[in-house]
Amino acid sequence: MTLHDTLSAPTSTPRITVIGTGYLGATHAICMAVMGYEVLGVDVDQNKIDALSSGRVPFYEPGLPEKLAEALASGRLSFSTDFDAAAEFGDVHFVCVGTPQAEGSHAADLRYVDSAFTELAKRITRKALLVGKSTVPIGTAARLTELVQSVSPLGTELELAWNPEFLREGFAVQDTLRPDRLVFGVASEWAESRLRASFAPILEADTPLVVADLATAELVKVAANSFLATKISYINAMAEVCEATGADVRTLALALGYDDRIGPRFLKPGLGFGGGCLPKDIRAFKHRAEELGVGQAVAFLGEVDAINTRRRERTVDLVRELAGGSLDGVRVAALGAAFKPNSDDVRDAPALDVARMLYLEGATVIVYDPEANHNAQRAYPDLDYADTLAEAVDRAEVVVLLTEWDEFRAVDPELLGTLVTGKSIVDARHALDADRYRAAGWDYRALGTPIEVGVARRDDEEVAA
Ligand code: UGA
Repeated sequence: MTLHDTLSAPTSTPRITVIGTGYLGATHAICMAVMGYEVLGVDVDQNKIDALSSGRVPFYEPGLPEKLAEALASGRLSFSTDFDAAAEFGDVHFVCVGTPQAEGSHAADLRYVDSAFTELAKRITRKALLVGKSTVPIGTAARLTELVQSVSPLGTELELAWNPEFLREGFAVQDTLRPDRLVFGVASEWAESRLRASFAPILEADTPLVVADLATAELVKVAANSFLATKISYINAMAEVCEATGADVRTLALALGYDDRIGPRFLKPGLGFGGGCLPKDIRAFKHRAEELGVGQAVAFLGEVDAINTRRRERTVDLVRELAGGSLDGVRVAALGAAFKPNSDDVRDAPALDVARMLYLEGATVIVYDPEANHNAQRAYPDLDYADTLAEAVDRAEVVVLLTEWDEFRAVDPELLGTLVTGKSIVDARHALDADRYRAAGWDYRALGTPIEVGVARRDDEEVAA
């Protein structure tokens, strides 16, 4: 059966609505339309809707603007702020709104999720499936099922499912069109068949599918993110041990990664994880587990979080050391603000946190990020921002690399050395070639790697010269 046959069979071709057009929702809506579905994207934010309708993706995501153009040109994708229109349009409604960390607590703030489900449920008048994609505490889908059925004119005819999303920022298109696996959390065969119809092209490509109950589907998502965060903090904990022993965490990670059972991915030591997902998800998971009386089972996530935060402090320590013991009045070039490269997202960004801490210790911090300057400036207006890398490092006494953009990797250390006042660099992401920097006369430091080698080598060169 071809894609066209699949999608044109009336019983198996749901019309799709996507509620919430942030990273997740916009990508989902666009990719569903590209795959051949009729899609309506809905958001309460008129600005987002206007931007998307006019072909502009309101955040940085490689490849997504091209897919938006393709989807709009197909005539299958439109956007609206109207929930009545959404209820009328959709057979399967995907809810993709945010679940940020609640103010003053580690719990997830579910107000946007609750509101999206309720607003839809009140308006839907024909049998339909509501599907949550947002990351939520376990038990939310069961609670929402009761909630939506109590407010819906359809009562129990309105069903709910959970379809967790595993896309990574920077790879959002690829992860959506060719995911590693699909997970359907369902309470009925009908719900499963509606989801199968909603992902027909992906399933036809032999993508593994796991069908689960609602609670397991919710848990898959937080368990996956917790595992990834734990793996990162594990290698960063080893970096701490390396710092105390003179061992080298980079070589350690390389050796560990060759073991197939461990693998090299997410074993990259450095400044640790940030962003809108991993930090808040492990905190919300721990909080929820405590509510459920199984807090001990995931108590280690508190350590995972603490190790992660300590990397930021240790990075500041290294910059201070290179500055001679005090940051007061020291000019520091902070390369990177986004929580990772190929993103303009600065939510819980380790880079910006370090820049902020340096600033609070009296440093003059000049931040440059290829894509995230604008968002960073809104979050931390007190820092200074440069439009180019050259401007950021101009007369810098210490350079600190905080986000491993290709632009920073590509820099020639000889050339960089001519722009700065002090050839001192902290490579907080292990992104640079230490030998090249040292050969060019830089005092190069990285978390979890011995400094003696570099210093000795540099001294040797000076002696030789
Ligand atoms: C993460 C998950 O990887 C996705 O599977 C998930 O769908 C998403 O959260 C979500 O819940 O929506 P994302 O936040 O885009 O995706 O970023 P990651 O690529 O996971 O990186 C997270 C952080 O870990 C970044 O700050 C990155 O610099 C850091 N990291 C990653 C390391 O410090 N070391 C590594 O080895 C890998």
